[in-house]
Amino acid sequence: MERRDFVANLGITLALACTAGLAACGGGGGYDNSTPPPPAGGGSTRLSVNLNNELMAVGDAKISGGVILIRTGSGNTAADFAALSSTCTHQGCTVSAYNKTSGLIECNAPCGHGSRYATSGAVNTGPAANPLTAYQVTVSGNVLTVS
Ligand code: FES
Repeated sequence: MERRDFVANLGITLALACTAGLAACGGGGGYDNSTPPPPAGGGSTRLSVNLNNELMAVGDAKISGGVILIRTGSGNTAADFAALSSTCTHQGCTVSAYNKTSGLIECNAPCGHGSRYATSGAVNTGPAANPLTAYQVTVSGNVLTVS
């Protein structure tokens, strides 16, 4: 058999195998081609932090991935952190900082216009009128996940 004939025969063989495979699956119940369900917990991971080397002191904060994450307590439980959207509700700027002294999240110039938010997300000072969206925090060992 020459190479050209071998390739042609291989193509026919594969076509028949594929057709047979599809027919076997067409009866229902064998293969579900639907979208897989979302992961348990209902949301995707927005931010993951290793608490061994980040956010180690009360008042430490990180802004990343659309999230501002603030350590509000000294433990390593979800209650020791606040996770909020970092998108200011005034005009959509990314908030610029967490001020340890005031305990407020700031949306400053050059993009922001001076809004301030509590770690609950509530507006402290406008012009923003609506709170920051709060996200779920889970802690497993030393890994914190925001979803
Ligand atoms: S966008 Fe934050 S204060 Fe205007």
